[in-house]
Amino acid sequence: MSQILKVAMPKGRIYKKAAQLFLQAGIPIPTDVDESRKLIVELPEAKMEFILAKPVDVPIYVEHGVADIGIVGKDVLMEENRDVYELLDLGIARCRMSVIALPDWQPGIQQRVATKYPNVASQYFRERGQQVEVIKLNGSIELAPMIGLADRIVDMVETGQTLRENGLVEMEELFGITSRLIANRVSYRMKSEEIQQLCDQLQKVIQPSVANEIQEIQS
Ligand code: PRP
Repeated sequence: MSQILKVAMPKGRIYKKAAQLFLQAGIPIPTDVDESRKLIVELPEAKMEFILAKPVDVPIYVEHGVADIGIVGKDVLMEENRDVYELLDLGIARCRMSVIALPDWQPGIQQRVATKYPNVASQYFRERGQQVEVIKLNGSIELAPMIGLADRIVDMVETGQTLRENGLVEMEELFGITSRLIANRVSYRMKSEEIQQLCDQLQKVIQPSVANEIQEIQS
């Protein structure tokens, strides 16, 4: 008899795309729960329970095993560096992480970089031998160069609209980002059948270019 799978889903812009993917895979998750204040959605017919979490918290729930699996952006995974398995590249919520500045930016002696991703940004500049002061912000990162808090930012670009509307330019693209399916290490073994079945269902509907199981799982 199969067990209930607890799935941590990110609230916000990834949710609808992830729910759409589940629907295509034959899992009848509602696409509008994100608009309500409900935090747990049970789907007994699919033997699943969805936990609606702040995206940055998804790997925390999964690492601690209160969710067996989760969906989260690669940006969050890189920044949080949690002890979880990365199972699938879902190919949704495609965007990029870039270094951004005002068009007249020049390398200066004092360089400040504002970002939601201080670990990723620090490592990136350190590896290039660039000394920068990294300032952690939690949102509206584009404000930082506009009001003089930082010279540059490291942030996500999807359509480029935010940059265009605020007169900023992309200096360098660091990484391509998509959403990933992650699993708790113990759940991956204890609920292997259920998780494998979900992976198989999802793989059938993932765009072919990304339908490769990520080879990062150690035995
Ligand atoms: C993200 C990101 C950019 C914007 C990019 O912010 O941090 O600001 O989206 O998207 P675009 O290229 O399509 O304009 P989000 O909306 O998640 O909110 P935040 O500013 O609170 O981080």
